[in-house]
Amino acid sequence: MATINSPKGTHDLIGDEALAYNYMIDICSEVASYYGYTPLATPIFEANELFARGVGDATDIVRKEMYIFEDKGKRIMALRPEGTAGVVRSVIANKLYATNDLPLRYFYSGPMFRYERPQLGRYRQFHQFGVESIGGATIYDDLEVILLAIHTLQALGFENITTKINSLSSGETRETYKAALKAYYKPHLPQMCADCQVRYEQNPLRMLDCKVESDMILAKSAPKISDFLTAKDEEDLTFVKEALLGFGIETEIDYSLVRGLDYYSGIIFEFAYIPSSKKDYGAIGGGGRYDKLVSMIGGPDLEGIGFAFGLERLYHILKEEGKLDHVKAQDDLMIISVGEEARNDAFALLTSLRTHGVRAIMNFTDKSFKSLFKIAEGRGAKYALILGADEVANENVTVRDLAAQTQVSIPYNEITKYMLDTLGFNHAHHHDGDCDCDHDHGADGHECKCRSRKDK
Ligand code: HAM
Repeated sequence: MATINSPKGTHDLIGDEALAYNYMIDICSEVASYYGYTPLATPIFEANELFARGVGDATDIVRKEMYIFEDKGKRIMALRPEGTAGVVRSVIANKLYATNDLPLRYFYSGPMFRYERPQLGRYRQFHQFGVESIGGATIYDDLEVILLAIHTLQALGFENITTKINSLSSGETRETYKAALKAYYKPHLPQMCADCQVRYEQNPLRMLDCKVESDMILAKSAPKISDFLTAKDEEDLTFVKEALLGFGIETEIDYSLVRGLDYYSGIIFEFAYIPSSKKDYGAIGGGGRYDKLVSMIGGPDLEGIGFAFGLERLYHILKEEGKLDHVKAQDDLMIISVGEEARNDAFALLTSLRTHGVRAIMNFTDKSFKSLFKIAEGRGAKYALILGADEVANENVTVRDLAAQTQVSIPYNEITKYMLDTLGFNHAHHHDGDCDCDHDHGADGHECKCRSRKDK
């Protein structure tokens, strides 16, 4: 029968790669928690209208890249192309803003969907980790979010990222700038691409980001936002740049940065990193302030700011740079049972070790020692615990150190404790001594070397 391929622009996450995604999300979530962020998970599909209104009718994302479908109840739904609109929808629907504790700070991760032409670093289903800070209108809110993004990239192992910032200003200034762009583009419009014709009407800022060569040339001579920014906008940009420098972080003010979503106003930013292979995966993340998004989708007059990283891009770069080598599936040991008569005792030992947090596998059928040792080594196991007829008769286990190629015999009733001590388990599951091992827990429970808890 013909095989069925994964849909174009998607990819399966298998084994160590899937572990790497979990690892990256763990690091991102942990750093976000240092900044007071808590998780918020929204559905991967929403009413199509949310994105049309939120992300913007004029964006490529909404016009060309959305996965839209009608459900059985005849509702027009869309797979989310990004996370911000959903978080804002949730904040409004759940009245999360009705608190004195603003800004609200949330992080999220998961798959996003854009019908784009697949290429290096660009997929139709990709994953983001993002944060939104909603309800704060000070420049410290901007600074905090940008710092969080950079701190996270550093925690993941990135050095020397390029950070670009710009301001899209707000309100009247933006309207004046848009009018200036329209005046500039008007005589050229008949020669411009069909998309730009639409952008001209809906959001001329997007014309600056057109990828059609002749339109790109026109964009070069277009009026610059820098000529329209207010003194306050410039002051904010300088404040952010200087403050980041104070923390040892270089940024570049790039007045041509516009970003691909319509909801931005005020400070926007983007991160890039070119690995030593010089492969350009595109921006690894970006974000900015949005002052009208909350009210535009039916909420109160609150501003927000956030960013998202593209996990595929982070993964490829970190992988290339060897920063994910330590993230791999690894067993602590393998139990090798020889003959059916050893199987039961071996399985009991396997279960006992696993309940103590040891990563262990075992063979359920007989194979040659050579092939079993090979499996154990392939899985990174340091020890093989061998149980054959002799061991069962004498109630002991042969413990083989696979690297040193030495072995010792340990009685059944001591083997779990022996292995925990040998493997050097410490309080990986930091606990208070409420476990069922017989180790010395010390006054605060921190001396226990086992990883089990009674309540697990
Ligand atoms: P964005 O720039 O559209 O922003 O996406 C953020 C990141 O997602 C990009 O920098 C890139 O790394 C990754 N990304 C985007 N599209 C793809 C794709 N097709 N394949 C692989 N990776 C991709 C947003 O989505 C905003 N919601 C960010 C934000 C949050 N702004 C404020 N709050």
